[in-house]
Amino acid sequence: MNLHLIMVAQFLFIILIFFFTSVSADILPGTTLHASIPNINWTSPDGTFSLGFIPISSSNPSSYSLSISYSSIPIWTAGGPSTAVDSNSVFQFTASGNLQLLNGSDYIIWQSNTSNLSISSASLRDSGEFVLLRNGTISAWSTFENPTDTILPSQNFTTGKTLVSGLYSFSLLRSGNLTLTWNDSIIYWTMGLNSSVNVSLTSPSLGFQSIGILSLYDQRLSVPYIMAYSSDYAEGSDILRFVKLDSDGNLRMYSSAQGSGTVSETWSAVSDQCRVFGYCGNFGVCSYNDSSPVCGCPSENFKFVDPGDKRKGCTRTKTIDNCPGTATMLQLDHALFLTYDAELSSQDFFAGSAACRFNCLVGDNCQASTSLSDGTGRCYLKASYFVSGYQSAALPSTSFVKVCSPAEPNPPAEQGNLGGSDWKLRPWVVPVVILATLVALVALEGGMWVWCCRNSPKFRGLSAQYALLEYASGAPVQFSYKELQRSTKGFKEKLGEGGFGAVYRGILINRTVVAVKQLEGIEQGEKQFRMEVATISSTHHLNLVRLIGFCSEGRHRLLVYEFMKNGSLNNFLFMTEEHSGKFLDWEHRGTRGYLAPEWLANLPITSKSDVFSYGMVLLEIVSGRRNFEVSPETNRKKFSTWAFEEFDKGNVERIVDRRLLDDGVDMEQATRAIQISFWCIQEQPSQRPMMGKVVQMLEGIMEIERPPAPKPVAEGSASGTSINRSSNTSAFSTNATSVPVPSSSSSLQTALQTAELERASALV
Ligand SMILES: *[C@@H]1O[C@H](CO)[C@@H](O)[C@H](O)[C@H]1NC(C)=O
Ligand SMILES: *[C@@H]1O[C@H](CO)[C@@H](O)[C@H](O)[C@H]1NC(C)=O
Ligand SMILES: *[C@@H]1O[C@H](CO)[C@@H](O)[C@H](O)[C@H]1NC(C)=O
Ligand SMILES: *[C@@H]1O[C@H](CO)[C@@H](O)[C@H](O)[C@H]1NC(C)=O
Ligand SMILES: *[C@@H]1O[C@H](CO)[C@@H](O)[C@H](O)[C@H]1NC(C)=O
Ligand SMILES: *[C@@H]1O[C@H](CO)[C@@H](O)[C@H](O)[C@H]1NC(C)=O
Ligand SMILES: *[C@@H]1O[C@H](CO)[C@@H](O)[C@H](O)[C@H]1NC(C)=O
Ligand SMILES: *[C@@H]1O[C@H](CO)[C@@H](O)[C@H](O)[C@H]1NC(C)=O
Ligand SMILES: *[C@@H]1O[C@H](CO)[C@@H](O)[C@H](O)[C@H]1NC(C)=O
Ligand SMILES: *[C@@H]1O[C@H](CO)[C@@H](O)[C@H](O)[C@H]1NC(C)=O
Ligand SMILES: *[C@@H]1O[C@H](CO)[C@@H](O)[C@H](O)[C@H]1NC(C)=O
Ligand SMILES: *[C@@H]1O[C@H](CO)[C@@H](O)[C@H](O)[C@H]1NC(C)=O
Repeated sequence: MNLHLIMVAQFLFIILIFFFTSVSADILPGTTLHASIPNINWTSPDGTFSLGFIPISSSNPSSYSLSISYSSIPIWTAGGPSTAVDSNSVFQFTASGNLQLLNGSDYIIWQSNTSNLSISSASLRDSGEFVLLRNGTISAWSTFENPTDTILPSQNFTTGKTLVSGLYSFSLLRSGNLTLTWNDSIIYWTMGLNSSVNVSLTSPSLGFQSIGILSLYDQRLSVPYIMAYSSDYAEGSDILRFVKLDSDGNLRMYSSAQGSGTVSETWSAVSDQCRVFGYCGNFGVCSYNDSSPVCGCPSENFKFVDPGDKRKGCTRTKTIDNCPGTATMLQLDHALFLTYDAELSSQDFFAGSAACRFNCLVGDNCQASTSLSDGTGRCYLKASYFVSGYQSAALPSTSFVKVCSPAEPNPPAEQGNLGGSDWKLRPWVVPVVILATLVALVALEGGMWVWCCRNSPKFRGLSAQYALLEYASGAPVQFSYKELQRSTKGFKEKLGEGGFGAVYRGILINRTVVAVKQLEGIEQGEKQFRMEVATISSTHHLNLVRLIGFCSEGRHRLLVYEFMKNGSLNNFLFMTEEHSGKFLDWEHRGTRGYLAPEWLANLPITSKSDVFSYGMVLLEIVSGRRNFEVSPETNRKKFSTWAFEEFDKGNVERIVDRRLLDDGVDMEQATRAIQISFWCIQEQPSQRPMMGKVVQMLEGIMEIERPPAPKPVAEGSASGTSINRSSNTSAFSTNATSVPVPSSSSSLQTALQTAELERASALV
């Protein structure tokens, strides 16, 4: 008997469930869903989609979201993807036609605001769209019109709509461009029509075809314009595909075979996840551990905001305001702070890495800076309070972060193990420690040897060479001829022909694009050539194209320069008559470099041309002025011309940078440097000394004869064309207004010390 009753009750219960799930095609006002009964939900006629409460994670069963889902993958969520409610929450389709999500305290978490639209019923369609209907047929409100983070096939995504996930949003612009934006301010990704499609759209809309193609529709387009394909497009059957803005700020396409319960990624908008702005939060540094992005802090001057969630970013252990005057710049190699268009403008200028570091240090609001070493010579200062970092061995840039002294870099760790994760003893640690100890012992022995032998005359010459090699932080690399042959594909792509040999485009193994200059007919000994290479590369200056390496093998003498993407190196190396029409533009385009006259005059280019450049830079360093500075002080003459006149009259002090004078510079040394620079900038290459001699003169090993006047060259012609003209007295920046005024006397002090250091090292 009892058994009978139980069976009847069970039967009724099953009927009840069946009623709720199958009659759901037409949902009437006055219906309610409860988070506490998640199996009762509204499903689409074919059962593909259901709308109801789903647990947010299996680990936290008391937290729910009200979502439309496809085999438990949410594709629409009331209030957006991060809205969570407790287990006493309810979802009401009220008698007035409003949809309301109330939490356990009857607080309205979300509502559709449709009370006054004469809603008569609701329906969850097989497409996954949930609609509120007026008079039984007319759609008054729908989830496709009010998307949260997902676009389904047959959904029409128009301008004005947005997908939102946390601080990230995705939208379609009137121009037809798709954009990803952080916090409504920084557009970190955009994709538009191919520039060869010359139409202005009227009212573009984005559609996602079920076979996996994201296309743009517009009256003006004869056929839909395809924006992206999924990697499995048009494959398989019964596969649901959708486009989703994930909480990590990336827009992706996914595929899920019906009933499989699994999803696979088939496309992502931002292929390099670390380039998503703010992925690791404020001051967070994104890097890759194998292929997955991980978040760390810039240094031990920072700590995680929430050690349990490293994506929340980092905060300074000591705020900059608490250490006025003792702030310093922490250096992060192979790192950059993400900068997208909205933030550029005045904070973007051309400067070397020392200037980039320095300008941020003295800038009042500057938090961090990035110096690109990709050949553009650009420097960004980050003045906004939110900075987003990226570190990877492949990044050609160096970054600096302002911190309170002392800078405490992260201990060297495995890649991606930045900041604060526990140190564990690993099997490789012991051999590494032993090796390090051995290296240290050898170094100590070497040090002692240097200490006791450095006064021996034989050793001095050697040490000079090595000092030069060492100074060049990116010391020139010696390439084998074969290697260069391979990287230039057998000297195939000729960039042009200089008077003294051809220059070819090449790609090094690490994918750095280079220009390889093949010197011909240079009768120079191996030793001498190396010495000159060392010297050229030690003249690290923003106005010079960087020498990456060289090859000296048998009769082959080659120089490997960094290649400037914007083609300036091309012009730099091959300025010939046919190109000279372009030349006047130079002063404006932002090209850098002091060119010896013969670069342009189609004369043989020798290593003496590099001597010219060195001379100009040396003069700049000592004087703190640019060659083209024309001011009343220089009687409206070109600086180098004026400087020689003053030197001739014996007024050396007038040439030397005043800040150096104040710091009590060794006048004898400064005079020597000035004389050498005049020798180097002689118009006739034959009059310029060899680089080896220049070094001997600098070191005081060799007497310096009185230099003849460097013949003045008409402005705008070949020699000494410094493009970024600046009237600023800083030797660091080429852009006057971008140098912030030191805020206090103490930072001025730091500035001058930095300047002094720079000069000292440049003088070797
Ligand atoms: C909807 O209800 C059906 C039947 O109870 C259940 O099998 C399904 O898992 C529910 N869907 C969700 C997302 O909870
Ligand atoms: C409901 O939401 C309100 C507002 O967010 C919140 O203060 C309240 O604690 C919530 N109640 C429950 C039971 O979560
Ligand atoms: C409904 O109205 C409230 C108050 O005006 C608003 O905050 C909310 O965003 C509206 N909801 C929707 C779905 O538009
Ligand atoms: C519906 O209309 C009534 C009166 O016309 C008004 O008081 C109420 O605020 C309206 N509700 C919404 C959600 O617009
Ligand atoms: C709804 O239907 C009624 C009659 O069935 C009609 O009078 C009314 O105009 C319709 N409303 C709309 C908005 O179409
Ligand atoms: C999408 O909606 C807009 C506005 O409602 C309409 O003009 C356009 O034709 C629709 N696009 C498609 C592909 O249905
Ligand atoms: C987002 O921008 C607003 C101002 O537009 C600002 O108040 C807020 O702090 C920003 N959020 C973050 C996380 O930076
Ligand atoms: C549209 O996207 C293209 C890249 O596909 C970009 O070059 C262009 O600047 C973008 N236009 C706008 C208005 O954002
Ligand atoms: C643009 O279209 C042209 C011609 O159809 C094609 O050759 C080119 O590859 C396209 N560019 C891009 C970036 O898709
Ligand atoms: C684009 O089309 C307009 C006229 O429709 C024309 O004036 C313009 O030159 C075209 N631009 C390009 C780049 O073809
Ligand atoms: C940098 O120099 C350029 C060219 O003289 C100028 O247009 C730009 O405004 C300068 N930058 C700043 C920040 O003033
Ligand atoms: C590539 O290698 C050259 C020489 O080894 C080096 O100078 C250069 O900095 C490297 N570039 C990158 C991006 O690592």
